[in-house]
Amino acid sequence: MKHFISIQDAPDLDALIAKAMLYKENPNIDREKGKYKTLGLLFFNSSLRTRLSTEIAANNLGMQVIGFSNQQAWNFEFMEGAVMDQQNAEHIKEAAGVLSRYVDILGVRSFPELVDRAWDYSEPVLSGFQKNLTIPLVNLESATLHPLQSLADLMTIRELQQTKKPKVVLSWAPHPRALPQSVPNSFASCMLAAGMDLTITHPEGLELSSDFTEGATITHNQQEAFEGADFIYAKNWSSFREYGKGTSLYSDWIIDGKKMKATNDAHFMHCLPVRRNVVVADEVLDSPKSVVLQQAQNRIFTAQAVLASLLDHGK
Ligand code: CP
Repeated sequence: MKHFISIQDAPDLDALIAKAMLYKENPNIDREKGKYKTLGLLFFNSSLRTRLSTEIAANNLGMQVIGFSNQQAWNFEFMEGAVMDQQNAEHIKEAAGVLSRYVDILGVRSFPELVDRAWDYSEPVLSGFQKNLTIPLVNLESATLHPLQSLADLMTIRELQQTKKPKVVLSWAPHPRALPQSVPNSFASCMLAAGMDLTITHPEGLELSSDFTEGATITHNQQEAFEGADFIYAKNWSSFREYGKGTSLYSDWIIDGKKMKATNDAHFMHCLPVRRNVVVADEVLDSPKSVVLQQAQNRIFTAQAVLASLLDHGK
């Protein structure tokens, strides 16, 4: 693998998950693979899981890690031909060129502005780095995608599934703030690529881009969606159509114990962080069917499999 920007960059999803499962059993089997190699992790936004799990993954491969935030660097300019007489002090061309000489792999997290859909969906920050780096790039959650999260979600489902094609439900859930579409976009395309029976349920007007959901069953009836489900994946997202618009309406879309009763004793999933008793009721999150910590733990081993594959490509 040359880069890991989206799930589609993985040439063989099953092989990547198998590798992650191997690393979960024995995290230290490839301790020499990344010896004398350095991973840079650049964060334009906050993170707990992505930052730490990717650092641990790199350490397991013997790599050094340098993590830093954009606030510790200069303000970057991404526009080609810009006259740089305002706030931005360093063009991405030099920044990416320098980073390519300092580290062997670079991970970047950069959320959307949720104002201009075309701008966000052009992935200005991530593609700016990709164009100008001469080293592999890892998407640590961009404006529209969060593939590392989806890989860990797929691994968790693979560990727990009882049937060949489980029913997986991605349910919109309430949230006080407008959130990106990156997690649901990647989750939907990952589940479909892995051959899951995917149902997406959300209130009317909150459709995701069909680029990611082609092949899924889509319904506005949450109760109907939950019937017979093996996995319930809760996530809020803002509107794609009325781009970036959040809504504090639909508080009745919270995932609670009564709704979970309609499922096939489903596992509850969420990428975290999660707002208790807004997105999901305590009774569900604290129940034995909640696998949110297993998902978070699997972030380490899926990231390790991705980094190992990128290191192998560079040999
Ligand atoms: N799920 C996830 O990406 O968590 P962080 O935002 O804490 O990295």
